[in-house]
Amino acid sequence: MAWTGKCPGCGEWNTLVETSATATGAGGPARKRSGVAAGRPVALREVSAERVSRLATGIGELDRVLGGGIVPGSLILLGGSPGIGKSTITGMALANLQAAGAETLYVSGEESASQVRLRAERLGPAALEVRALAETSLETILATIEAEKPAVVVIDSIQTLHRAELNGAPGSVGQVREAANALAEAAKRLDVAMILVGHVTKEGSLAGPRVLEHLVDCVLQFDGEKERTYRTLRAIKNRFGATSEVGVFEMRSGGLTEVVDPSARFVEEATGAVGSVVLTSMEGTRPVLVEVQALVNPSELEIPRRVVNGIDRNRLSMILAVLARHGGVGLGTSDVFVNVIGGVRIDEPGGDLAVALAVASAQRNQPAGGTGSKPLACFGELGLTGDLRYVGHADRRVAEANKFGLDPVIGPPGGDSLPGLAPCATVRQALRAAFPDERGPVAV
Ligand code: TYD
Ligand code: MG
Repeated sequence: MAWTGKCPGCGEWNTLVETSATATGAGGPARKRSGVAAGRPVALREVSAERVSRLATGIGELDRVLGGGIVPGSLILLGGSPGIGKSTITGMALANLQAAGAETLYVSGEESASQVRLRAERLGPAALEVRALAETSLETILATIEAEKPAVVVIDSIQTLHRAELNGAPGSVGQVREAANALAEAAKRLDVAMILVGHVTKEGSLAGPRVLEHLVDCVLQFDGEKERTYRTLRAIKNRFGATSEVGVFEMRSGGLTEVVDPSARFVEEATGAVGSVVLTSMEGTRPVLVEVQALVNPSELEIPRRVVNGIDRNRLSMILAVLARHGGVGLGTSDVFVNVIGGVRIDEPGGDLAVALAVASAQRNQPAGGTGSKPLACFGELGLTGDLRYVGHADRRVAEANKFGLDPVIGPPGGDSLPGLAPCATVRQALRAAFPDERGPVAV
């Protein structure tokens, strides 16, 4: 084989992994027909499927995202950037599981046992009952799991493990895949549930562990900014539950605390100032109110700045184009900054209108909703034709905003009329509803 450093497929360096090829060729299917006994397919009705009871981690938001707790023998990948709280949340989960009578094991490849103990001290006495192993050798870890047969194991992190006979540094694709395959095999064989912690690069992809996503039963993503206190946990993949649920946490001195009513937190801080609106967003099955802020300034650059936090940058470009073309809000020579407060990320198209109205408010230097005493709530997807499109759960979004005294809510016209909703069919109508005194460029 020729030496190749760059993958001809994806153009990346150092992503190629040496693997052993199984001999095929001579004979092929014909040989198979003669030598191997055929399998026997069974009607699914006759397949026995046990209803397993799940292991509750005792952290409500985590259990909800998992779909009701950890399935015994399952493999969970927990991704997040350094410092976000992966070791903290897994440490807390093991503490609760151990206290509830399940045997646990915390394998740390990153920190010494004494460092792990110092964190556990912050989390409380139950965390000190968890058994820990500071180890990076895959063979030793597998042997320990085999000998101890705990119910739940945390591997923190998968990028630190290595198998001695494989060349390739810990964290390389080959080592990560090898470690995960061996752990997955052990998990199924010994019925041990495992949480594999994985670091995420700045771009948001699981570095290395991307190759693991198909191998594990569940992929959890821990988001937020290190400097802020709020963290969101969502399932990107879940063989045993929905992928739409989101858990909200706050980092405190005694570990992560669940934010059971995120709307109350986020809305309390929203002021209704210029450039601020409240989005009634859906996080899984739960409506959550989040504040979206924008700042618009004349630009000194040839290409004006577009700075976003918590939304997709391309989405902002699209929203600005729709605002310019269909709302008469031109921003071609302005810097635009958009920020979702609290370190929350908006992943749904229903957030478009909130971004548009926050930007329009900033550009006009006028509070959305007219008064400025309380924030304006809204939701809806913007179409490229300037229409405001229907998004799911309009009734629950409106009810959540009304609960916090935000009434009416600007949103797309739905199937049934909702008392707290000011329906608008286009972005133009929404701008007029949000800025009632202003005729100016939006007057039709
Ligand atoms: P950590 O769980 O170590 O993050 P990760 O494993 O994802 O890298 O914790 C991250 C930060 O949380 C760390 O800077 C310290 C802080 N922290 C608290 O604020 N309170 C606490 O009780 C704990 C345990 C950590
Ligand atoms: Mg850690």
